[in-house]
Amino acid sequence: MADKEVLKDLLEDEIKDLYSAEKQLTKAIPKMAKGSNDPALQNAFKGHLKETEAQAQRLEQIAEILEIKPGGKKCVGMEGCIKEGAEALSEDGDETVLDLGIIGAGSRVEHYEMAGYLTAISLAEQIGEKQVANLLKESLAEEQGAEDKLRKIATNLLGNAPKKAAA
Ligand SMILES: [Fe+2]
Repeated sequence: MADKEVLKDLLEDEIKDLYSAEKQLTKAIPKMAKGSNDPALQNAFKGHLKETEAQAQRLEQIAEILEIKPGGKKCVGMEGCIKEGAEALSEDGDETVLDLGIIGAGSRVEHYEMAGYLTAISLAEQIGEKQVANLLKESLAEEQGAEDKLRKIATNLLGNAPKKAAA
């Protein structure tokens, strides 16, 4: 069994990573909203921006409880996801297809965050930080909700997408 201090250090790293990810997203999500064509997709991103800002604050609260600093680490994985999002935004062509590409990028972001929150929750529970685990679970539920929303919008858009290449 890894000792508690080692697990707490790992949790600290995960919190810093998540904090960096959320902070990067508060800048990237408005661009995703602006670059989307479908109004439901724009609204989904706008709604998730507010959640993302609250998630960053929640991580600050968690850092206080754990008596650590949330900053000082760059989440390189999220930086990559955001770069892919920017690529999706720079494509041209059919608006619906473009939106589906943006949703693909957004979905990667949500899954990446979910992986981080799930890891942090396990660590927090293991070292008995119940309040921290509960706060992390609130954010996890929001990420899952955002992913569900994107999935539903994609299903709707696929109903309108071109079925075959133009002759
Ligand atoms: Fe988030």
